[in-house]
Amino acid sequence: MALSIMFIRISLTLALLCVLPGLAAQPLYQPLGQPAAGLSDKPEWNLTIRPDGGTLPAGSGNAAQGKLLFEQHCAACHGFGAIGGSAMPLIGEVGSLNSEYPEKTVNSYWPYATTLFDYIRRSMPPSDPYALNSNQIYALCAYILSQDGIIKADVELNAVTLPQVTMPNRNGFSAIYPQ
Ligand code: HEC
Repeated sequence: MALSIMFIRISLTLALLCVLPGLAAQPLYQPLGQPAAGLSDKPEWNLTIRPDGGTLPAGSGNAAQGKLLFEQHCAACHGFGAIGGSAMPLIGEVGSLNSEYPEKTVNSYWPYATTLFDYIRRSMPPSDPYALNSNQIYALCAYILSQDGIIKADVELNAVTLPQVTMPNRNGFSAIYPQ
């Protein structure tokens, strides 16, 4: 008896699990093979920042502005100063990749500074991607990069200056397929 009640419960749960996604107003995931929902309202969603920065938007920001923004939007996870918290550190460990204890941070590992703009815009903070405007994102990039002296603290980052930044590990990658 108890077993059959349990069976009915499990069947009901399974049935609900099958039906509920259909009832939801917005699907939680993008069905494969269909045009991305809302893309026409948000053309910037379809914009990838290339390593050469060719598609970077207008705007600018510096490290002082970025510090305030970082404390407001990022430090809760990445720690004050971006040195790490519940989420990984974004700075530090530059030059560690060849050492006994290599640590991959944005500043020690990433080959292009432009990727930082792209990454922050499309995914950070995780609860609200695409919420920050271009000035704010340039400022956050300036703050993170200046923490390791990759750029000077007073540099104004924008579509021209960000691609000019040379990341410490810029030449640490090799092409899998020779060109
Ligand atoms: C709620 C916690 C949280 C907040 C707030 C947050 N992040 Fe993150 N961040 C993460 C997690 C978790 C990851 C790792 C994601 C992964 O690897 O898929 C991450 C990854 C990153 C990375 C990539 C690091 C790497 O080495 O791969 C960058 C850059 C970054 N965050 C920047 C920011 C910035 C800038 C902000 C503020 C605008 C921010 N994050 C706010 C949790 C957070």
